Amino acid sequence: MFNSAIRYQQGQLYIEDKPVADIAAQVGTPVYLYSLGRILENVSRLQQSFRPLNAHIHYSVKANGNLSILRALAANGLGLDVVSGGEIYRALLAGIAPEKIVFAGVGKTISDIQYALDTGVGWFNVENVRELEIINELAAQKAIKVCVALRLNPNITANTHPYIATGHGGVKFGITEEVIANILAEQAKYPHVDIRGIHIHIGSQLGDTEATLQALKKALNIIRPYTNIHTVNLGGGLPVAYRPDETVPDIATFARSIAPLLSDYTVLLEPGRSIVADAGILITRVLYTKAQGGQQFVIVDASMSDLIRPALYQAYHHIVPVHASDEAVTPKQVVGPVCETADIIGRDIALPNVQEGDLLAILTAGAYGMVMASNYNARPRPAEVVVQGGIWAIARHRETWEDLVRLEIE
Ligand code: LLP
Repeated sequence: MFNSAIRYQQGQLYIEDKPVADIAAQVGTPVYLYSLGRILENVSRLQQSFRPLNAHIHYSVKANGNLSILRALAANGLGLDVVSGGEIYRALLAGIAPEKIVFAGVGKTISDIQYALDTGVGWFNVENVRELEIINELAAQKAIKVCVALRLNPNITANTHPYIATGHGGVKFGITEEVIANILAEQAKYPHVDIRGIHIHIGSQLGDTEATLQALKKALNIIRPYTNIHTVNLGGGLPVAYRPDETVPDIATFARSIAPLLSDYTVLLEPGRSIVADAGILITRVLYTKAQGGQQFVIVDASMSDLIRPALYQAYHHIVPVHASDEAVTPKQVVGPVCETADIIGRDIALPNVQEGDLLAILTAGAYGMVMASNYNARPRPAEVVVQGGIWAIARHRETWEDLVRLEIE
């Protein structure tokens, strides 16, 4: 949504001190624009909120792994949360110290574990007894000892879209309470892992804090007898407002409420969305308009291949014209060119009349946007641009048709 960095000035949409239309004119559309200023503001708001706790933020790379963003976060002292060898590679390239990397993931491959051990990754969030055995064996071969947090599946259902809820029974994530109790009772079996932490992440875009509190209490009950466990990783999941009228739980209030429970522990956090979502917008151009079947369609040059969230989770993204208009608004279906009925960017979006060539901004698109983009329908992925103050730079070039076939030709 609108914020200190993304707002109208004299009827024109700006990102920081730059008119969005100026960047689109030079880089073309669709294009993702990210405000570095807003990202850093979100970081410092989280740091302030969690000040009552001894908390360290590890930004979740999966939300937006663009190197320019990772470099800025690393330079500001954040750690990173990664889920694959590829994300470790990205994180190291961005200049993060390996000990500030937390390696999570339900299906870590042996080669990714090797890579993490070779590069000196700081923490492994473990989701499986066999994974723990493998890490122990590989660490033994290298005669090292590695830091591990066990990810608890607390069997608690988070209030969010079912595709991004991860804490209830019957999902693949985490380790059950009983199995964690067994692992802890038999820690001596794993001399090359140092089980120092417990990890909970019950979902993303969490609608209330009650479920997290319940999960935290369960985790604390499990680890209380074990004084070697002094770190609690609360995962990510902090929500953002996607709609103008949406309210989300206040993070500072939540942090204050859990602080007394965590006074004896170091706390790790893995926020992704809450750092980058509202700092990013996807700019698209209107290709055609069409009225049929009682609907007004606005066909734009961005599609589900660029931003899949509306198609995959029925997610809402506010969409506004880059040049503000005083005209009356009517509900419009903002759709992309991809050959799928699901290729909808916005359902019933209140928009004034728009014409071919007009620019629209899809808001709150900085998280799980470009990282989930594909080349479906042989569509090159969009360019990415970072903006800070009045300065902007291409952070990833628009893909070309040659890029699409590069790995298929000799
Ligand atoms: N830690 C773990 C273990 C995670 O699985 C995730 C997200 C995070 C941290 C970061 O969560 P966040 O702070 O961003 O909520 N593609 C979906 C979201 C998937 C989230 C996956 N895990 C979406 O577009 O809504």
